[in-house]
Amino acid sequence: MKKLRLTINPMDKRSHINREIYGNFSEHLGRCVYDGLYVGEDSDIPNIEGFRKDVVEAFREIKLPVLRWPGGCFADEYHWKDGIGEKSSRKKMINTHWGGVVEDNSFGTHEFLRFCELVGCEPYISGNVGSGTVEELSQWIEYMTFDGVSPMAELRRKNGREQPWKLKYLGIGNESWGCGGNMTAEYYTDLYRRYQTYCREYSGNQLYKIACGPNAGDYNWTEVLMKNAHPWYNLKGISLHYYTVPYGNWAHKGDAVKFTEAEYYETIRSTLEMETLVTRHSEIMNRYDPEKKVGLIVDEWGCWFDVEEGTNPGFLYQQNTMRDAIVAAINLNIFNSHSDRVHMANIAQAVNVLQSILLTEGKVTVKTPTYHVFDLYKEHQDATLIYSHAENEATDSESAVPCISHSASINENGDILVTLSNCALDREFEMEIGSAFGEVKSACARVLTGEAHDHNTFTDTDNVVIKELAVRVEDGRAYVVLPACGVAAVTLKV
Ligand code: AHR
Repeated sequence: MKKLRLTINPMDKRSHINREIYGNFSEHLGRCVYDGLYVGEDSDIPNIEGFRKDVVEAFREIKLPVLRWPGGCFADEYHWKDGIGEKSSRKKMINTHWGGVVEDNSFGTHEFLRFCELVGCEPYISGNVGSGTVEELSQWIEYMTFDGVSPMAELRRKNGREQPWKLKYLGIGNESWGCGGNMTAEYYTDLYRRYQTYCREYSGNQLYKIACGPNAGDYNWTEVLMKNAHPWYNLKGISLHYYTVPYGNWAHKGDAVKFTEAEYYETIRSTLEMETLVTRHSEIMNRYDPEKKVGLIVDEWGCWFDVEEGTNPGFLYQQNTMRDAIVAAINLNIFNSHSDRVHMANIAQAVNVLQSILLTEGKVTVKTPTYHVFDLYKEHQDATLIYSHAENEATDSESAVPCISHSASINENGDILVTLSNCALDREFEMEIGSAFGEVKSACARVLTGEAHDHNTFTDTDNVVIKELAVRVEDGRAYVVLPACGVAAVTLKV
């Protein structure tokens, strides 16, 4: 077995890893909100005030830091006043983007914010710029955050909530270059400046305003936005959306479970594009914001495959395998490594849609391999990125990709977490982990591994789970065997 050296330097502290990098996204799309987060109080599925108990608990276990809502494309057709007040009298609408189904608005502002309270995460609200008005968004902020006397604060009280909520993260539009209005960068930037003006900071609430940023490699969008919206217009973050699609072929994305080895490696190649995107958008941002105050918010990322056979094509329901786990591991390592600029990321999506961390069917909830990666990585949250370097080698596949991806952080107790993935399907590696300063004194490790197609199902929920990984500490170094198609988390003391 080949040995690869990985060197860390705990003295070389880089940037704070915002816990929000481990965020998620929940849209009124397919069975994400209804069935996924919310089943209603009368359901025989165990629930807390109508929210799935197992989902709340699973989110708490991985310390979910932030949840984005209500979309996605849905956000730019959402009118928040339809989702407040007595449920039986809430307006019904057609979800034109996603399957043309009836949206009964039974999950609205109060429900979303209560769900976040139960999970213990920050809410991230995506405002409607595409088909809404400045007044509507301004009133939504007033409704949620104002504690004085005003029409919206009174309306909130009438609907049963005396105290305002705190709302930090506010998106001004979603994909305004596409489903959110098909705008040019110049036109959107003007709209951002106008809309954000009327999103007031009431009662000590401080808004972190996130402008709609680029679609993947649209560098001109970033340039125009940074030039014209920063630093005068309260711009705290700009979003970036990039989905992993094998061969970039949106017409034929391939099956989530049945894929060839070539498709597997092509998926890895496609996901590694994230490194280039983050680097190049950051370079543009650096010119306007060298102090890195504006965050790059990767608020949609993950694998997008063809929907599962027999499911509504508008529901974007797909299974989740070890391939997805490797993709998650690589992306989270990239975000950690760029945490000086990447201040938040939200995988798409939380439950039953695209690269979900959870899948539900009736009373059963499945933790996907992607969920387990978030579990392995959770101690990076709010830790400090440190220098790490690994010897590496390329796979022999047609699209040759580096086998190893990694990142390392140190927390306030001095615990060092090294996360590693090996995308190669044909070889394991002995990883020798050493520190540039000091010797490794103790170490323990966990691993997630399997065949690339391995996944969990509603009848076999624990086919892919985290296991202990043997570590040998010798001569001040730690040694682990990183299996083929594996993700490991090694916790060290130096
Ligand atoms: O996540 C699914 C969709 O992908 C979102 O609604 C949209 O923002 C993106 O195009």
